[in-house]
Amino acid sequence: MLQLRHVTSINDLTVDEIEMIFSLAQRYLKDLRDPNVPHRIGRSISDAQGSVLASLFYEPSTRTRLSFETAMLRLGGKSISSADPATSSAAKGESLADTVRVASNYADVLVIRHPRDGAAKLAATYASVPVINGGDGAHEHPTQTLCDLFTLVQEGKSLKHLNVAIQGDLKGSRTIHSFVYALARFNANIMLMPAKGMDLPHHVDWRLKNEFNCRMLPRTRNEKDNTSVDAVYVTSDKPHQLSLISDVDTKVKKGIDAMYVTRFQKERWTDKSQDYPTIDSRFLKDRKFSKTALLHPLPRVGELDISLDSDPRAAYFRQAAFGVPIRMALIALILGFDRERALKRYDGGFRHDDRVFYDQAPGLGIRCANKNCIVHDTSEGKHARNRFHMITGPSPRLRCYYCETDIETFAIANKKTKHYDTDSALLRAAIDKHEREILIFAHATDAEAAGFSLPKRRRKAASA
Ligand code: NCD
Repeated sequence: MLQLRHVTSINDLTVDEIEMIFSLAQRYLKDLRDPNVPHRIGRSISDAQGSVLASLFYEPSTRTRLSFETAMLRLGGKSISSADPATSSAAKGESLADTVRVASNYADVLVIRHPRDGAAKLAATYASVPVINGGDGAHEHPTQTLCDLFTLVQEGKSLKHLNVAIQGDLKGSRTIHSFVYALARFNANIMLMPAKGMDLPHHVDWRLKNEFNCRMLPRTRNEKDNTSVDAVYVTSDKPHQLSLISDVDTKVKKGIDAMYVTRFQKERWTDKSQDYPTIDSRFLKDRKFSKTALLHPLPRVGELDISLDSDPRAAYFRQAAFGVPIRMALIALILGFDRERALKRYDGGFRHDDRVFYDQAPGLGIRCANKNCIVHDTSEGKHARNRFHMITGPSPRLRCYYCETDIETFAIANKKTKHYDTDSALLRAAIDKHEREILIFAHATDAEAAGFSLPKRRRKAASA
């Protein structure tokens, strides 16, 4: 029996699995292409005959939903869709948790899109069939990343050691968050060109540096035009080479392999009147862009001039077309079709999530600090436990199980001794010794209010 697999983050897939998806997608493209329209799958197979995909979309979508449904149809399966929360039981107040439990009885795989960060993970905890994240708030959009990387391969780029510039709303764009993790894992140099005030979220930057082996290069020159790169994360599979790379400009001089642009994610910002950069052919005149593949997850709403559409570097419509073969390959992998031919290395399971959890009932102790996390949704919150990964090391932290936002300061309380402490270095000890006995609070005052106190020696130190 196949193990239940979910894709809620691009990090649920190993590099091997990503490459496997690409080789299967490549095969679909070759075998099933429309002879009259390049990049288009024009024929269907019957591998998924009898299987059903359900798309549950709580936010607008064109490409993701239609290409997932097309992918299932091209594989020979069927698809059902709840594309408008106003016409589903969500309008009556039904929770996502209940909906996925029900829909698991109707379909063999669920694709979920939701405005809340971490919604896909919540869905995965309640579904009895695989869940694929079709975009959850500002968290991640892993299957878009598969399309993005696959496009680069199709554009003749090698996946390793790319120079990739990313421009626009780095804070609100879930596509960018999945993309940068994947780029780091393929040892790319990631060049940031954020719109004003739209830098990568702090926790994404922290993970790139601390978990994905990235180092941030300093700028050496101060001159700034609107095509200049603000910062570069470098990753290398040969660590000694990191010391050879001294600054941003040396890296940029080598040329930019891909430029990734996104729209201003206005639905995720309260201030909608932001100053947002536009890319046009004048922008791309700079020598560093001469061989650049121009990517955009679409929709574009003005930040990418339509005069670029006929430019051979513009890869964004091909990128959207590849949504079909890529999602066919992912569905095939997840449902275990075609195992004999293409999936020899696939042993039927994702990596196990064996990191230590902190897990408490919703009303108890610390809750995720990200206000857009699914745990704060009025109808979903009661279905979401206070669940965190405990990340130890030099900068210990709690990582929300759902939206993966980190909390760096908290109070750890021991139910047996009735003491608490705010020293986060105690997390390791707490995991080792008292896993069952600890309660974590957001602030010392919350711990005190719940009847815990600082140990005597700490009280003395605090008053000294
Ligand atoms: C993206 C999304 O939904 O995050 N769209 C898509 O799936 N291709 C990008 C966006 O909406 O800006």
